[in-house]
Amino acid sequence: METIHRGLNGVNVDTSKICSIDGERGELIYRGYDIHELADKASFEEVVHLLWFGELPTGAQHASLREAIRPSFELPTQVIDMLGSLPKGTNAMHALRTGVSALAAFDPSPDETDLDNLRRIGFGLVGRVPAIVAAFQRLQAGLEPVEPDPSLSVAQNFLRMVNGEAPSPAASRVMDVALVLHAEHGSNASTFVARSTASSMTDVYSAVTAAIGSLKGPLHGGANYGVMKALEEIGSVGGVERFVLDTLASKGGRVMGFGHRVYHVMDPRATILKGVSQKLAEESGDSKWFEMSLEMERVMKREMDARDKQVAPNVDFFSASVYRMLGFEKETYTPIFAVSRIAGWMAHLFEQYGDNRLMRPRLVYEGERGRTFVPIEQRG
Ligand code: SDX
Repeated sequence: METIHRGLNGVNVDTSKICSIDGERGELIYRGYDIHELADKASFEEVVHLLWFGELPTGAQHASLREAIRPSFELPTQVIDMLGSLPKGTNAMHALRTGVSALAAFDPSPDETDLDNLRRIGFGLVGRVPAIVAAFQRLQAGLEPVEPDPSLSVAQNFLRMVNGEAPSPAASRVMDVALVLHAEHGSNASTFVARSTASSMTDVYSAVTAAIGSLKGPLHGGANYGVMKALEEIGSVGGVERFVLDTLASKGGRVMGFGHRVYHVMDPRATILKGVSQKLAEESGDSKWFEMSLEMERVMKREMDARDKQVAPNVDFFSASVYRMLGFEKETYTPIFAVSRIAGWMAHLFEQYGDNRLMRPRLVYEGERGRTFVPIEQRG
């Protein structure tokens, strides 16, 4: 009897030196560093260097990394025009997937998969993914895209290119923490898709475009949008319990922002983002979304405990209220996930292209056999 691993649950497809997750203890490390320390002390650029080169950068390495990223916030005008031609209301992840795919046409060597070319394209995407997300949001609002400020970090430039003004140091730091937390997470669905796509030795733009498609899904990166959509529909703390009970009572009902294939306890990133959300709520005086999130966490814990299920908040749960309090529209939440996860996708693509084997799993055939062909004239 063939063993089937649906959803590839528990299947190890390769080794990796990038990230380790302990789902029972709720621990996450990038290249040996605990996520709590990185979130507390590292910038997104330092984490990009760590994920890609295996080490936190020295001052000189950090400066050259910033130099390599600097020009990449510029988009080809044809890509901006294409983004502007998309109908009003186009899903921002459709726009991002299309924009990244179009970049290949304007790249001098999009198809070479040697490490130097991959790193060149990677540095380009670290700036162009946020630039596409920001430009599209503004174009959809009838506004002109904002020119990047090459002196700024990814977090600062992204906030500035979305809002049209220099961000506060506090908002820049919150954005940086969010980018650090979402940067990498092992063989999650979109990263697996990136590696599996690359395993045919196709180009890196095709692999990243495929990953963006996977990240969009509500069971994966799309969940942060689903969390805020639910909170907006519920409207107040008083409506949260009814919403959770109705969702759990519905067939296959899933409360967005909860549960995880690997974590059986609270996702450590959710723990960190819960603190960030609370701080933003206290500082802004707008505690509605944080309070509603706390109530949803309380009710879900009670209900999951009653069902003896290990379903806890994941990274998407408190990020929704954090992004809301940073002023983002919920349509931009999942694209922000991609702004960060391009770092992890590229780290895994360097590994995959560097020691590749085509990914080609099997399906156990349960269909019919030995059927006789009947000419169409005789098929009635
Ligand atoms: C991300 O993989 C990664 O690392 C992803 C990610 C990353 O950084 O890349 O961490 C980012 O994608 C986080 C997950 C975001 N998705 C959501 O918040 C969507 C809601 N969550 C669920 O759909 C679900 O928890 C998954 C998809 C995340 C995990 O699904 P599994 O592992 O296939 O588990 P399952 O759906 O089979 O659920 C197991 C049990 C079920 O009970 P039974 O039906 O077996 O009785 O737990 C229950 C489920 O009912 N359950 C939930 C639930 N999640 C699981 N019940 C209510 N609400 C939920 N959200």
